[in-house]
Amino acid sequence: MERTSEVSGLYRLSIAERRKILRDWADLTDAELAAYDFPPGIDPGIFDRMIENVVGSYAYPLGIATNFRINQKDYLIPMAIEEPSVVAAASNAAKVARAEGGFTAQTTPPIMIGQVQILDVADPAAGRLRILAARDALLETANAQDPMLVKFGGGARDLEVRMIPSPRGTMLVVHLLVDARDAAGMNAVNTMCEALAPDLGRLAGGRSLLRIISNLAVYRLARASATFRAHLLATDSMTGPDVVEAILDAYTLAAVDPFRCATHNKGIMNGISAVVAATGNDFRAIESGAHTYAAFQAKNGAVVKPLTTYEKDRNGNLVGSIEVPLAVGLIGGATAVHPTARANVKLLGVKGAAELAQIVASVGLAQNFAALRALATEGIQRGHMELHARNIAATAGARPDEIDRVVARLVSEHRIRIDRAKEILDELRASGSR
Ligand code: MEV
Repeated sequence: MERTSEVSGLYRLSIAERRKILRDWADLTDAELAAYDFPPGIDPGIFDRMIENVVGSYAYPLGIATNFRINQKDYLIPMAIEEPSVVAAASNAAKVARAEGGFTAQTTPPIMIGQVQILDVADPAAGRLRILAARDALLETANAQDPMLVKFGGGARDLEVRMIPSPRGTMLVVHLLVDARDAAGMNAVNTMCEALAPDLGRLAGGRSLLRIISNLAVYRLARASATFRAHLLATDSMTGPDVVEAILDAYTLAAVDPFRCATHNKGIMNGISAVVAATGNDFRAIESGAHTYAAFQAKNGAVVKPLTTYEKDRNGNLVGSIEVPLAVGLIGGATAVHPTARANVKLLGVKGAAELAQIVASVGLAQNFAALRALATEGIQRGHMELHARNIAATAGARPDEIDRVVARLVSEHRIRIDRAKEILDELRASGSR
């Protein structure tokens, strides 16, 4: 009989019963099933309540970036990421920045935008004014949805009403501006938008449809900057000032070419997403917001803009800065329940979401500086290749005491392949050199 993916009631089964279904479906061995196991320290019940149809956990490596000093405070920064070199690169960049005092970072107030779409408005310009005239009552209704947020100093702050021409007629789009304090804000904003939508539709003389947060959090920005001393950037073949010029050239390509800009901003997100994920925040929301902001800010016919900027200061040192929407929270969501996220927040020792956003922005800048520095000098592959070679050596069966020697040979021969790693291992073992 052909197997079917219509497994009804999977959600009602226990984790063990769901796993049995997987085993039968894919003929998984006991060892493969064990790869789904919950690590010690994680209560399966917590994960089972976080999402649906849970069968286990998917573990990411968690690395610690060192050397970070941000606004005169030192941090050890947890990064959850599968890509080699990222943690080392961030740590190296932070070390260079440290010589000039580290990163200086700031945030705007944590204002999130909720959107309510209103259709079929006969007189959109007048409808807009009818909504704006009812501003105070609307904000009161919004705030009545979340007394706790209001108690902590947050809540709905203002309304904007946009008129957007579209192929389906002019739409009114109401933006509810909500101070989310230490939360990312999704639940508070969505609840408020849903509560306001009927009134907004009535006031406009149309009907409301979408009621949802915008991830383009243009009012909730984090910014960071750092100075990288030129003489610390010198390599065997380039002087520090040469490297500064090369980094400026590399950066400039991102400013004028979307193909490069996509990769430039991706490198920034290597740092940002890794910290955002490690603290249980919604990295898809942050990524979508960052990339859309990069497009939103583009000027003069450009379609996208680098999220960082580089300049040379009076002393010839390189100065980098970043500005990015960062709606990260500390309360609510996975941050509050995921045990590893909670431990990571404690490790960071942050007092509020703004401080977390400042850290995240600084790591994004550090990551980008490290990538540009590598690209503008020896290229990215050497560092990558060494880590790649470690993986290959381990996969070929090298024991911990053999890995360094196998890696050295693979790298020096520029042949980082599993068959070669096995040959080298055989040679090493045959010669008894362990
Ligand atoms: C790789 O994950 C990220 C880089 O490609 C970023 C960049 O090119 O700037 C190295």
